[in-house]
Amino acid sequence: MATSPSSSFGSTLVLCLIIASLITPNSSNYLSDMCIRSKSPRFCLQVFGRNPHRRPYQLTQEAINLALTNGSETTFKIYTLIDQTKDGNLIVIYNLCLNYYQAAIDVLKHTDEDYLKKGLYNNVNEVGKLVEQDALFCENAFQTIPGYVSTLTKDNENFGIFGSIIVSAAGLFNSLSFKK
Ligand SMILES: *[C@@H]1O[C@H](CO)[C@@H](O)[C@H](O)[C@H]1NC(C)=O
Repeated sequence: MATSPSSSFGSTLVLCLIIASLITPNSSNYLSDMCIRSKSPRFCLQVFGRNPHRRPYQLTQEAINLALTNGSETTFKIYTLIDQTKDGNLIVIYNLCLNYYQAAIDVLKHTDEDYLKKGLYNNVNEVGKLVEQDALFCENAFQTIPGYVSTLTKDNENFGIFGSIIVSAAGLFNSLSFKK
């Protein structure tokens, strides 16, 4: 794979962030712990990288909110795509995707209040898995009808990664209680 200047800049940035977090005297590298266990550490550090000193609780909350915003934006995008096509098959696929995204969004909206604030980290973990699963279901919906290629691959990928970040953020709490 050829490395474009922007991706090598991205890799350098990620490397710097990892090194910076490793040499930080405050030994709690929650951000890098969370990102390294996610599906794409690089994406994770680019999205969360601005302030490395955040507690696991705050990181989890941010992961939930970012997944919510990202999923909602994709939902709007799908509505726009539906408006722009007359292809009945595509409309069926887009409606399937809307259902998957809406199901994930409905749960994400209540995750902070119902699970995180109550310390129900296993449930937070399940929400992350659900987000990953719904992203995959939408991507797979395009394969149900021969000849169709997903127009939402990047969006599904992003949503799936946010799901994996929620899973790894929830996992931080387990590893923390282990240390005690
Ligand atoms: C989701 O988040 C990623 C990373 O910040 C961003 O690149 C992407 O454009 C977002 N997706 C939508 C649909 O806004």
